[in-house]
Amino acid sequence: MITDTEKRIREEFPLINSTSLAYLDNSATVQKPKCVLDAVSRYYENDNANPMRGLYDLSLRATEDYEKARSAAARFIDAAPEEIIFTRNASESLNLVAYSYGMNFIKEGDEIIVSVAEHHSNFLPWQQVANVTGAKVIWYDCEKDGRFDLDTLLGLLSEKTRLLAITQVSNVLGRVNDVKTMAKMVHEKGGVIVVDGSQSVPHMAVDVKDLDADFFAFSGHKMYAPMGIGVLYGKKELLGKMPPFLYGGEMIESVTKERTTFADVPHKFEAGTVNAGGAAGLLAAIEFIEKYGFDFISKREDMLTKRAFDKMKEMPHIKIIGGENAEDHHGIIAFQVEGVHPHDVSQIFADSDIAVRAGHHCAQPLHKHLGIMSSTRMSVAFYNTEEEIDRFIEVLSGIRSRMGY
Ligand code: ALA
Repeated sequence: MITDTEKRIREEFPLINSTSLAYLDNSATVQKPKCVLDAVSRYYENDNANPMRGLYDLSLRATEDYEKARSAAARFIDAAPEEIIFTRNASESLNLVAYSYGMNFIKEGDEIIVSVAEHHSNFLPWQQVANVTGAKVIWYDCEKDGRFDLDTLLGLLSEKTRLLAITQVSNVLGRVNDVKTMAKMVHEKGGVIVVDGSQSVPHMAVDVKDLDADFFAFSGHKMYAPMGIGVLYGKKELLGKMPPFLYGGEMIESVTKERTTFADVPHKFEAGTVNAGGAAGLLAAIEFIEKYGFDFISKREDMLTKRAFDKMKEMPHIKIIGGENAEDHHGIIAFQVEGVHPHDVSQIFADSDIAVRAGHHCAQPLHKHLGIMSSTRMSVAFYNTEEEIDRFIEVLSGIRSRMGY
């Protein structure tokens, strides 16, 4: 039986509401509410022109919509609008920082600290920066329970530290990292902190000023917006001194045959025609989240996670990756079923109409550090139901016997 609250939430999501699939792969992408789908159509039906180009009403409206989305994104994480750059996704945001900041302000002999729990998107760009500049990547390992010890970080920091790349919430461990304290520690050494917020912004309130993050990246599609729109927050003084990442239309002040000067931030980082429809969807997604509020969203997600976690803990052949307590897992539980390959686990779930993800979840160094090759991951959104969690547990408890154990 689904509760009235669950029914009310699910009615906002056309896909979820019309399927028997228990969608528990929300860390990969979430389903979209109708208000977001409508906002995208509304933009194309009423306001579509190339933003920032025309002086006619339609183009002015398109520009206004786009800049409204920027202001909403700024409000959402407590930044200023000019500190918000629209990208395609968190990967592009992180590449922008690596290419524009990393390649220009990191030099041979400098050190880049990367947490072992990073999604490849917040490691590979730094590996490239190190390869090109001659800087060194230093790994910040977590404990067996996925906790990042601050004393370990203290031991890694030095006068050579230029940057720490760390996720606020790991897409495998689900644990919230204390990036605020880490930022303070890195700043004391004169370095900057680059935070991947992809798995935090859909689930908890984030205030980049309070965190004192230098850069903060996230994707729209994990927070109810369409795919293809992402955000990079950067402190204005840092963005101001960084060269453009991509060159092309609408990111210039003036161009002559000899010399080009660039537009101010954020436009200098948004070359070419922008994803205005995606931005309209992002604005609607932010308003959707604000309508429910993070108190409600996080509480439901934590309740659903705990419901699964407490049962999984009792199962003898299930090994949960990371923290020992439900509270360590914000919406995400990665696990192994003893003797069964994660791909078989996820296939059995798929055959039972339940969507989970199997593999290394783009976090190969973390899996290696924990001594495993891969895992299966379930991840919830606030539209999931207690009944879906119970179905998940029921299928999980039968997997080993289905495999002949
Ligand atoms: N980064 C996404 C995930 O963790 C795709 O599944």
